[in-house]
Amino acid sequence: MSYLQKNLTILFLLFSGYFAQAQEAPFAFYLTWNQDPTTSMVVDWHANGLEPQTLKIRRKGTESWTDMESDVMPYPFSERIVHRVALHGLRQDTAYEIMFPGKEEIYYFRTMPGNLNEKSLKIAIGGDSMHRKEWFEKTNRMVTFFEPDFIIIGGDMAYENGLAENLGRIYDWFDAYSNSLVTADKRILPCVVAIGNHEVVGGYYGRNPGYEQTNSFRKRIAPYFYSLFAFPGQPGYNVLDFGSYLSLIILDTEHSNPIVGVQTEWLAKTLKERENVLHRIPIYHVPAFPSVRNYEGQTQTLVRENWVPIFEENGVRIAFENHDHAYKRTFPIRNLEVDQSGIIYVGDGSWGVAEREIHEVDATWYLKKAQSVKAFTLLTLEGQQFSLISVDEEGKIIDTYPESPLQFQSER
Ligand SMILES: [Fe+2]
Repeated sequence: MSYLQKNLTILFLLFSGYFAQAQEAPFAFYLTWNQDPTTSMVVDWHANGLEPQTLKIRRKGTESWTDMESDVMPYPFSERIVHRVALHGLRQDTAYEIMFPGKEEIYYFRTMPGNLNEKSLKIAIGGDSMHRKEWFEKTNRMVTFFEPDFIIIGGDMAYENGLAENLGRIYDWFDAYSNSLVTADKRILPCVVAIGNHEVVGGYYGRNPGYEQTNSFRKRIAPYFYSLFAFPGQPGYNVLDFGSYLSLIILDTEHSNPIVGVQTEWLAKTLKERENVLHRIPIYHVPAFPSVRNYEGQTQTLVRENWVPIFEENGVRIAFENHDHAYKRTFPIRNLEVDQSGIIYVGDGSWGVAEREIHEVDATWYLKKAQSVKAFTLLTLEGQQFSLISVDEEGKIIDTYPESPLQFQSER
């Protein structure tokens, strides 16, 4: 080997060693919960390489970092790997700084308050998030401006229909999340999602021949949903309890589970067990009281016949619906009539999708308000009370509830 060849070989070895050790920044990250959000957080990031990686974490205001090694999981139809660190035993209402491998920026998150006596909770809620990436990002930036504690997207996140060929839409969704659901001071907004038709091959379980109500079948027809979102996880519906003041009940409107049967039995039991929880809020995709689609539609009717009576029996005061690509708020409804002691249904899934033409509001008995617009709702919980404003993609407030402070709903 000549002198020159030797030197080139040494240089090559030095460089390849350098690149093998240098950690690449993750493609995207995602925060959610599968335990009590007052003391926990699930941190995900997507990266190359099968080896576990290290997340650094410290309580904001302290000096030394703690290293947390990730669990690694496959990313459907992709060479990327899902890295997950589930953090437990955190302090309530506390900021924690995190550093992702290969990324110099310090982000942070906050755990939720232990109760609502001194602090209120602000949640940005909507659905149907990404016909186009730029629409998703635009609404996200408006959401972030309002600095909610976290966000909820009630189905139809990336519109990939569970298909390998639409992997790029999933990449785009998580890229948009990582870029536009972070506040100016680097707080990442945690997210809670529900399943919609566009997470599932064929949209509905019944369109998949040989359907079985099993984990493996559900994962087969909604591969990204079950692999990339730690919550709700299997079986596709779940409850998230915030101390004893809030329970989010995430449901599946015929996408990877039937409404009738075990899911409805689970719903009745879950609500009954939480009768002393201040706020019990169902979130699901297909609306019982649609602003656009047919009231008599099959899934809409199943929701009204099976779930609405259970909501009413168990003191639910507000539910969030999606799928129709418009904004709506219903009158309070009980026994399928307008009733001041009833439940209000807010939706209808227009975070980042083309808005659809709505039913005529005055001619539709249940619609108090509806508008063909891209929008989200900011729900505020204060003690036993709740209030909301709904905001369009330009930041204009298009609805408030209660409509005047005198009507503030405090009765349980
Ligand atoms: Fe939908």
